[in-house]
Amino acid sequence: MTSPAAPSPSSSLPPAAAVEFRELTSVDEIRLVQAMERSVWGGEDIDISPILLMVALVKSGALLLGAFIDGTLRGFAFSVPGDRHGQRLHWSHMTGVDDGLRSAGLGTQLKFEQARRVAARGYSRIQWTYDPLQSLNAHLNLVKLGARADEYAEHVYGDSSSDLHRGAPTDRFIATWQIDANGTPIRSPLLARAALEDGVPAGTVTRREGWDVYHAAPSLPDTPVVRVPVPARFGAMLQHAPDLALDWRLQTRAQFEALFAAGYHAVDFRRADDRGDYILVRP
Ligand SMILES: CC(C)(COP(=O)(O)OP(=O)(O)OC[C@H]1O[C@@H](n2cnc3c(N)ncnc32)[C@H](O)[C@@H]1OP(=O)(O)O)[C@@H](O)C(=O)NCCC(=O)NCCS
Repeated sequence: MTSPAAPSPSSSLPPAAAVEFRELTSVDEIRLVQAMERSVWGGEDIDISPILLMVALVKSGALLLGAFIDGTLRGFAFSVPGDRHGQRLHWSHMTGVDDGLRSAGLGTQLKFEQARRVAARGYSRIQWTYDPLQSLNAHLNLVKLGARADEYAEHVYGDSSSDLHRGAPTDRFIATWQIDANGTPIRSPLLARAALEDGVPAGTVTRREGWDVYHAAPSLPDTPVVRVPVPARFGAMLQHAPDLALDWRLQTRAQFEALFAAGYHAVDFRRADDRGDYILVRP
């Protein structure tokens, strides 16, 4: 089992013009992506994308997009064309950024570049999975990118060997990104409603031994806007307080599934430092 590489010294992102985006197609370029997969996700070799499969996918229309700074690969986004519930889309399987460049905007730049190129290929929809309890991803996907979520999938990746996933079922939101012909995101019209109301919390959060603990309300609020909280440091909780992580996972699994079944969409995330609340709105 490999563990994630130690973060390289933190650096800030050079101006957007200094980032070179390139579509990666050769075996040597795919090997660079494999190395980055190892350092970003850790886990076992069996879970690294196989070269032959990547070649086949890239040849048949997948987009493997690399972000280079000073000639070095520092991030990538990988998506494959698909057809889900009768709609053509790109399914974005992985997006990763070098540890040393996190929270400097490269992930956002990569996703917007992915959207432009996917739109140029004639698609208006990109979907991907993400762990709803990772506050960084919630903020990135719903706030910075303008995606929404109205689908919940249980234990999607099974018992993944990745260091980022271990400790609780690999439940995921399926994020939907609607884009126009230029690749500009089209945000949910329900955001207007979310802006007008604080929403009613679906439970309360207390603290125990330095960790957030979730107590779901016995029944969900029957209001147009509902808030569901995300803990601080869920990644660390998975490793060091797995019982609390599992408890949060299972309580919110039941709540998100019930809310989505009732027609709510998660359209916003109100961040408070390293935690926050989803804002779910009923049309
Ligand atoms: C997800 C990932 C690609 C994002 O890349 P990035 O370059 O760090 O993203 P950005 O800098 O564009 O945006 C991150 C945002 O989250 C914010 N953020 C950082 N820590 C946060 C936290 N604990 N809670 C909420 N938001 C947080 C950052 O401040 C930034 O927002 P801001 O620009 O409004 O300040 C990167 O973190 C990564 O590689 N993660 C590991 C792999 C992964 O989880 N991939 C996604 C699923 S495939």
